[in-house]
Amino acid sequence: MTETPDHDTADVLVVGSGIAGCAAALSAARNGSDVLLLTKAERPDGASTDWAQGGISTTRDDPERLKQDILAASDGTADPDAVDVLVENADDAVEDVLLETLDIAFDETDTGEFDYTREAAHSESRILHVDAATGTHILRPFLRYIDDHDRIEIRQDTAALELITHEGRVHGVVSDAAPTGHPIFAGTTILATGGIGALYTRSTNPDDATGDGIAMAALSGADVADLEYVQFHPTVYDGDDPFLLSEALRGEGAVLRNGDGDRFMDDYHPQGDLAPRDAVARAVETERKATGAVVLDVSTLEGEFEEAYPAIAETCRDHGIEGEEIPVAPCEHFLCGGIDVDEDGQTSLDRLYAVGECARTGVHGANRLASTSLLEGLVWGLRAGADAAESGAEPQIVEAPELRNSDPDLPERFAAEKSIRLKRTMDEYLGLERDPDEIARASAVLRRLKGELDAYIRTRTARELYELRHACVTALLIARAASENPDSKGCHYVVADSSETVDHTHAH
Ligand code: SIN
Repeated sequence: MTETPDHDTADVLVVGSGIAGCAAALSAARNGSDVLLLTKAERPDGASTDWAQGGISTTRDDPERLKQDILAASDGTADPDAVDVLVENADDAVEDVLLETLDIAFDETDTGEFDYTREAAHSESRILHVDAATGTHILRPFLRYIDDHDRIEIRQDTAALELITHEGRVHGVVSDAAPTGHPIFAGTTILATGGIGALYTRSTNPDDATGDGIAMAALSGADVADLEYVQFHPTVYDGDDPFLLSEALRGEGAVLRNGDGDRFMDDYHPQGDLAPRDAVARAVETERKATGAVVLDVSTLEGEFEEAYPAIAETCRDHGIEGEEIPVAPCEHFLCGGIDVDEDGQTSLDRLYAVGECARTGVHGANRLASTSLLEGLVWGLRAGADAAESGAEPQIVEAPELRNSDPDLPERFAAEKSIRLKRTMDEYLGLERDPDEIARASAVLRRLKGELDAYIRTRTARELYELRHACVTALLIARAASENPDSKGCHYVVADSSETVDHTHAH
């Protein structure tokens, strides 16, 4: 890394500090590059990886079986070649990075074997986990490891605001490091900026998941794909401060019940409570509307809830939840689409890569199988880091976009009002069900909002303003993708008139 007062340089610049960003940094460094990793977060729990519960899928030496489960969960829409890349590299990546390099202590059985768990739509128990707090247990040692690496520098509390492009090639980012608008020139740039939770009122993501990478890449002309496929997790606490109730709970015997106390999933899907996520989420919503509530009943678990899932049990206690029936509702969880990339994470723009949730590898199609997101981030992170390093691309100093510094601050009320308008639009018109007229209405609201944000950006450079614009641009791209796809598949469920009650029974 070279630092001068007015810019920095790095061989490889990684933006984002979840599992995909860490894997990309590690792999680029192992292959001889000097790496600079920027993260908006001030603490490790700023990355979605830290919030991941269920675990990381392995193939248990049967890649073909995992492939078939992924394809089935996606309703046949996942790209088989991309899925091959995932399943053929899965076990080596887990062995190399998580077991040998980081020595993660995944849960074991009494006989010292890995305690593989199962989640919905998996045909066998194959998921490595630590309690149901797997993300934390992977990410924190990973960050410590790369922080100690001679070739990697981590810069916290630093956001990328815009990509630097010149003659169709990406040369780094303009960051909000002081003085705001600080350029970082890189041989290659790898976006690992995560998801879009901040576009919705209720999400399982950290608050600053504002779609930064997707928006920056798209604004620079990169191809994006499958953005209509926003995945809603079916079992998130239905109350203030929502939190995830891992699918591992249903994988190990918990069941859904409606407001009348009845189990209902068998009426909706042949796989019952273990149906793919999109089908369960829609069924939960239908039953909530019809019977007033849905609960996850953990009394049917094979083991004791408190003992088997101490982290989730503690969160339940913190939320004042008593008893074994936890009220649940679907909420935004994961974006299956993103910046279109190839098998090495290369985007359509020269020297720009994307990995993790911001990327669209083709593995998830219209609906992601549980516990494949950490795996996809790990596998593609390693591949992109290696490819970027092997390209040997060196940083070039080119003209960087000049940001307006005249007034870096943003009035608090302005940001709150814009954010609420954005979230309400997405909640109302681009949720579990989409109606073409409503999608058009959403696009109109979002276009107006983007106009207002663009006008502000002409005079101000606050990070929050850029985040809002990134969120708004990504929301517009989601609306456009939804409007261009009339077919209901996976997470994109199109109805003629959403005010009518839709019967999702066996609608999958
Ligand atoms: C969960 O634990 O249910 C979430 C896992 C995932 O999203 O893959």
